[in-house]
Amino acid sequence: MKVTQAELVISAVKPAQYPTDALPEIALAGRSNVGKSSLINRLINRKNLARTSSRPGKTQTLNFYRINNQLYFADMPGYGFARVPQSVKAAWGRMIEGYLSSRERLCGVIQLIDLRHPPTRDDRTMYDYLKHYDLPTIVVATKADKITRGRRQQHLKEIRKGIELDPSDPLLPFSSQTGQGKEELWKEIRRLTEA
Ligand code: GTP
Ligand code: MG
Repeated sequence: MKVTQAELVISAVKPAQYPTDALPEIALAGRSNVGKSSLINRLINRKNLARTSSRPGKTQTLNFYRINNQLYFADMPGYGFARVPQSVKAAWGRMIEGYLSSRERLCGVIQLIDLRHPPTRDDRTMYDYLKHYDLPTIVVATKADKITRGRRQQHLKEIRKGIELDPSDPLLPFSSQTGQGKEELWKEIRRLTEA
């Protein structure tokens, strides 16, 4: 997909701030530091429109990016980051759960899982939650550049097994560093937003 326009429309902390122009939306979920913001930048060919950081917990709001006036990416705060105070975690949790369970224009979720490691309990909980709400999910196994080709299939298999991946949900290896998997991912995003 050729991206000609991409802008951060709002960093929302409450539903009243969510966009109201009814474009299809795709949300990004995943552990802190797994590479959600980097994936957005890679998809739209921008270095740092979505702020990234080697320090986990960078994204603390629900950030809506409007792409080509066609769709939104909603970049969510990462889960599983121990150093965030419990009160803050609870507030994010409520916001994210409310968003995922009741956002009308949400067409699906990209859940990122680090290809190097087996899925964590939080990864599994998030996936179960998405399935509970019948949200179409694209599971992206990211940081694929850090795994040798020979070991890739085995690691993909562990992810598939670890979260009990629904056979109708795709699992795609991806690297924000090299761009591997980018076209395949766009294809899956179009499948969900143009349905
Ligand atoms: P939070 O906003 O804290 O939830 O993190 P995030 O999921 O948005 O992660 P972010 O995109 O900020 O990336 C975290 C770190 O991982 C950064 O140092 C990135 O450069 C690195 N990173 C992200 N994706 C990849 C990838 O595909 N390959 C490699 N090698 N590094 C990556
Ligand atoms: Mg981020």
